[in-house]
Amino acid sequence: MNKKEQQLQGDGGRFVGTTFQDLLDLEEVEVPAFLRDKSNPYMGDEDLSVDRYISQEFFDLEKEKMWPRVWQMVCREEDIPETGDHFVYDIIDRSVLVTRTPGGEIKGFINSCLHRGRCLRDESGTVPEFRCPFHGATWNLDGEFQGIPCQWDFEHIEDRDMSLPQVQVDTWGGFVFINFDADCKPLAEYMEVMPEHFERYPLEKYYKGIHIQREVQCNWKVGAEAFMESWHTVETHKQIMTFTGDANSQYDTYGDNISRSVTPMAVASPHLEGVSEETISRDILKESGRMALDSSEGLEIPEGVSARRYIADLNREIFQEASGQDLSDATMSELEDAILYSLFPNFQVWIGYYGNIVYRFIPNGNDPDSCLFDVMVLLRYPEGTERPAPAECVVIPADAPFSSVPELGALGPVFDQDDANLPAVQKGMKTSASGKVTLASYQESRIRHLHQTLDKYLNS
Ligand code: FES
Ligand SMILES: [Fe+2]
Repeated sequence: MNKKEQQLQGDGGRFVGTTFQDLLDLEEVEVPAFLRDKSNPYMGDEDLSVDRYISQEFFDLEKEKMWPRVWQMVCREEDIPETGDHFVYDIIDRSVLVTRTPGGEIKGFINSCLHRGRCLRDESGTVPEFRCPFHGATWNLDGEFQGIPCQWDFEHIEDRDMSLPQVQVDTWGGFVFINFDADCKPLAEYMEVMPEHFERYPLEKYYKGIHIQREVQCNWKVGAEAFMESWHTVETHKQIMTFTGDANSQYDTYGDNISRSVTPMAVASPHLEGVSEETISRDILKESGRMALDSSEGLEIPEGVSARRYIADLNREIFQEASGQDLSDATMSELEDAILYSLFPNFQVWIGYYGNIVYRFIPNGNDPDSCLFDVMVLLRYPEGTERPAPAECVVIPADAPFSSVPELGALGPVFDQDDANLPAVQKGMKTSASGKVTLASYQESRIRHLHQTLDKYLNS
């Protein structure tokens, strides 16, 4: 079998041990087809130039050719529920007002006054109309021009279309996306297999329980890529190895825009030997940051039951209670594994019934060396009860550790470990003698996929 054929098998043919697919064989309920799927076409093994991460020139190319043409997640629909609620989305030099109109629709307007260009809104909020703070030109919430003081001085604009220019807006899973490209394909098409894979997890019925944003001192792709492979666990997140099948992970890429990692949880890392099932259960409850409980205190861990089953059943009970949903047909995998999808270029979301983590990395202004990292956690509420108000975005200072945010629980220290690497990656790339980064063939295939899609924009 040649390398290409091996990779089509899904794990490069190299890893010897329990695969995610082997674990699915232990399921006692029907396994959804998307979990059985494997898709990892060979994409080559060439090194990447560090310029892709550190040069202003490359950043400017992304700004010119990629960002104006991709679907970008802006906020949750629940962030702007009422007429006049709007969200200011800034991306590099552009700014958009994503607005709930009186008709209940969501529209996206370029955040710039048609008089002398001032931003119409400096911050997100609620307004009855958009009134420019400079001279008072006004538009209604549908973007129709309402007038400007001293109208007698503007006879020459009477025949002009003074409506606010719009961007494309679409929604998926309760998220609002925008695209600057008037000719872009619809979001549903852009998302390829993703809507189908998320059918069992209607994220529009979830609510945003946590939202933290912080500046990170690295290129936006260095940040995003830290969540596109699980194998750095062996060195960076040693405390989670007793319950993380880091090197057992499956990596898939679909079309141009979607990739995923499936990391089995409640199994010990293949790097370790002799970890008892009880240790796996206790450690995951204490350290995972995603299990419904954050401690195993007071719990009797039964003998002879695998940690995988024990934790899945525990989660099943707690997730059922949170949503009022019957989860008897949920697989152990859906109840405990780390199954993380990314949508090109920078939106990442976990599947699952509860506690779905969302990541987004956007450039910080025009700086190739820093980015803004958003982390949200989507939670459930019992069907038929009132949707809890979404968490406000809490921006923490650039020098504050994630572990200083109590809401993040055990995720905080994990992010701090990543954050200890990311600025050092940015620094190390600048002094690199080779000027190249070398990728693992299989475990870093999602990173290669991201760059190959990026190149399609940059070269067109
Ligand atoms: S710049 Fe907006 S009213 Fe003058
Ligand atoms: Fe990490």
